[in-house]
Amino acid sequence: MKGKLLVATRNQGKAREIRAILGDLPYDLIFLHETGITESGAEVALELAETFDGNARHKAEYFARQSGLPTVADDSGLEVLALGGLPGVRSRRFALVDGPPEVQDQANNRELLSRLGGLPAERRRARYRCVVAFIPRPDAPSHSFEGTCTGRILEEPKGTGGFGYDPLFFSDDLKMSFGEASPEAKHAVSHRGRAFRAFAEWLRSEAR
Ligand code: IMP
Repeated sequence: MKGKLLVATRNQGKAREIRAILGDLPYDLIFLHETGITESGAEVALELAETFDGNARHKAEYFARQSGLPTVADDSGLEVLALGGLPGVRSRRFALVDGPPEVQDQANNRELLSRLGGLPAERRRARYRCVVAFIPRPDAPSHSFEGTCTGRILEEPKGTGGFGYDPLFFSDDLKMSFGEASPEAKHAVSHRGRAFRAFAEWLRSEAR
């Protein structure tokens, strides 16, 4: 019988990607909506650290305690050089707009374009970062894995694929925006693909 692994995210865009990236892992992936752990105010405090690593570990620790299951969580975001690394750990709520994810994403993209207004391509360098934290048991220490990918911020959105900032992120690896890329092409080079593959490799080596 396969063991269970809780993937602790409420972000549907991320959940879709993680399912595809971890698809061949010999574990039954369980997502939060399947656990009956309802969203609570306490979850806001899980993302108040100043680093991706801190946030990812807090999320994994919290949901491992809630579920009693081996738990993996990620924290990720976009770092723009000309903005001193912003939006960074505040990527999800960069524009400080409340509402459903699509509304927040659109507001964030508008905010990003307005802050970069008029800067030439060479001043629009950016990278995505993702840290994955894994806890095998609620009382055990966590392990973390990082992935990055580089690119630049376009002057207008291109494509409708992916989620969040993807239509504005022109990937150095793919020579197109993540919004224009197929899911498989994005996962092959993305920060999340790299971080989760490093985690999966580690998990397989531990099981040997
Ligand atoms: P988190 O849920 O705190 O990790 O926030 C992640 C936020 O960073 C998302 O809501 C997006 O705004 C942004 N982000 C992270 N990864 C991606 C990606 O792969 N594509 C587009 N936006 C991303």
